[in-house]
Amino acid sequence: ADERVEAISNAIRVIPNFPKPGIQFQDVTTILLDPVAFKHTIDLLTERYRKLKVDVIAGFEARGLIFGAPLAIALGCAFVPLRKPGKLPGATISADYVTEYSTDRIEMHVGALQLGQRVVLVDDLIATGGTLRAGVELVKKAGGEVVEAACVIELPELKGREKLDGLPLHVLVEKEGI
Ligand code: PRP
Ligand code: MG
Repeated sequence: ADERVEAISNAIRVIPNFPKPGIQFQDVTTILLDPVAFKHTIDLLTERYRKLKVDVIAGFEARGLIFGAPLAIALGCAFVPLRKPGKLPGATISADYVTEYSTDRIEMHVGALQLGQRVVLVDDLIATGGTLRAGVELVKKAGGEVVEAACVIELPELKGREKLDGLPLHVLVEKEGI
C-alpha cells in the first residue's frame, strides 16, 4: 500500500498562492492525468470499504464526484451526489457550511437515501472540515447513517478532523499547508 500512497502523493501538484495569496493549493487534477495513480486511489478506497457494509457512497460536488463515482462502481453500491445550490432538479434537503474560502450550501435529492442506509462520504480533500460536517448533517436529515468519511488528502494543520465529532475519517495522503 505504501508505494501506492507514494505514487498518489507524487501525482498531486501544488499551486502556490491559489485561489488566494498564502494558500498552497493541492491540485488533484494531476492525479487524473496519471492513470496508475488514479487507479491506486480508487483501489485503496475500494479495498477499505469492501470490508465494511456500505450501501451508498455520497460524493461532494465538484471534486468529490470524481473519486466517489468510480468507488461506488467498484463496490457495487449506489452513488449519491451532494450538489451545490440550485443544481438538482427534484425536491431537495440542504445543509449550510463554511469552507476555507466561502460560505456555501450542499443539497441532496429527497429520496436519494433510504432510511437506515450506511453511507461513506467521499471528497478529494479535508481542510477546515466544514464540507464534511455539512455532509454528515445532510445524511442524518435524510435518515441515513454515516459510517466514515474518506478523503484523498488531509491538511492536518487546519484541524478539520476535530469538526467531525469523532466520526472516523480515512485519508490516503497528508499534506502540509493551509
Ligand atoms: C474544496 C475541496 C473540499 C473542500 C474542503 O471544495 O474540494 O470539498 O473545499 O474544504 P473544507 O474542509 O474547509 O470544507 P470547493 O467547494 O472549494 O471546490 P470544488 O467545487 O472544486 O470541489
Ligand atoms: Mg470540493
